[in-house]
Amino acid sequence: MAQAFTHYGNHQLSIYAQGLKGQLPTLPLRYDDLERRARECLSPEAYWYVAGGAGEDSMRANRSAFDRYRLLPRMLTDISERDLGRTVLGKRQATPLMIAPLGVQEIIHDEAELAVARAAAEVDIPMILSTVSSYPLEDVHQALGATSGWYQLYWPNDDALATSLVQRAEAAGYEAIVVTLDTKMLAWRERDLDGAYLPFLQGKGLANYTSDPVFRAGLDQAPEDDLRATVKHWSNVFAAPARTWNDLARLREATNLPIVLKGVLHPDDAIRARDAGMAGVIVSNHGGRQVDGSIAAIDALAGVVDAVGSRMDVLFDSGIRHGSDVLKAVALGADAVLVGRPFAWGLACAGQAGVAEVLRRLLADTDLSMALCGVARLDDMTRASLAG
Ligand code: FNR
Repeated sequence: MAQAFTHYGNHQLSIYAQGLKGQLPTLPLRYDDLERRARECLSPEAYWYVAGGAGEDSMRANRSAFDRYRLLPRMLTDISERDLGRTVLGKRQATPLMIAPLGVQEIIHDEAELAVARAAAEVDIPMILSTVSSYPLEDVHQALGATSGWYQLYWPNDDALATSLVQRAEAAGYEAIVVTLDTKMLAWRERDLDGAYLPFLQGKGLANYTSDPVFRAGLDQAPEDDLRATVKHWSNVFAAPARTWNDLARLREATNLPIVLKGVLHPDDAIRARDAGMAGVIVSNHGGRQVDGSIAAIDALAGVVDAVGSRMDVLFDSGIRHGSDVLKAVALGADAVLVGRPFAWGLACAGQAGVAEVLRRLLADTDLSMALCGVARLDDMTRASLAG
């Protein structure tokens, strides 16, 4: 439930209080240190699957671009009662954070998306579940309990399968469909190619397919009896290079849920999304995993907000690491932001507890940084909160 005046920043005091008892945080606080710790817990190929991109230029740009936006704090305002709440798709949520869809989490932790969903419920942060998850979407929704879930669709080239997946998501209780547009096929990912590693080819991350009646009907034998044929069928349906804007109308008809398009960077694509009846867009370059050399996602945000922000929701991801990043994205006009790699490192280090801790820290940092900028309600964070 959205709750005003929850002082997430108090998490800082609980860490210091533990220190008085001689207890240090079990997970490193700094992002780079956390990633380093996670690396010790993962196989090299799993680590690189998460850490790597399509080359590393856009990943670097996603971070360095944040440096060019500077917060401009104001003094002597009343920040005693604070509210991080945001309204997203017409629903008030307690904070601006959402959990980004990250596929194939079984390579990170055995409990994968179930652990993440339980952590999301603990901290009350909506979760977006990937199509290529390691547990079926129905089981993950159950683990979420009353916390909101959205379902991310990798739009297969088979319309019957797409319809089946979104209708299962709707029946399970997901509240929106996120269609990821930037992954019509996988990019040239050097780290994964170095290890000749693609987890899906080992049958990982395919739970939503192998539990789907339409997908199963396309197989001669049950997936449990013929993994090779299952993977082959998956690779035949996954890539959808022929999809165009015209196909959206059919998907729109397949579900009553609002649809949000992820991976939009150009303002004109955002306008097309709005004209096609979409409820929102997520400005994202997939964490630099698809088009190396592409614009940093944060640099694309203002253009999309200016084009469609008054008429549809605009969310953001790619590079969120600190509270100040969240504030900058919101100031530029994002209604909510998605957290990606940081929670994956928490999952690698400590499962559900690790994910929950990473999210609590990001909320604490956001709350304290907002307050110290002189802003009491995140809804009042605007471009006027930025220098220049
Ligand atoms: C992703 N991302 C992603 N996106 C999506 O729509 N479906 C998916 O299945 C996945 N899978 C996935 C796996 C891994 C390991 C990563 C790191 C990312 C992209 C994700 O939703 C988000 O856009 C990025 O993670 C944002 O970048 P940062 O902030 O994590 O760097």
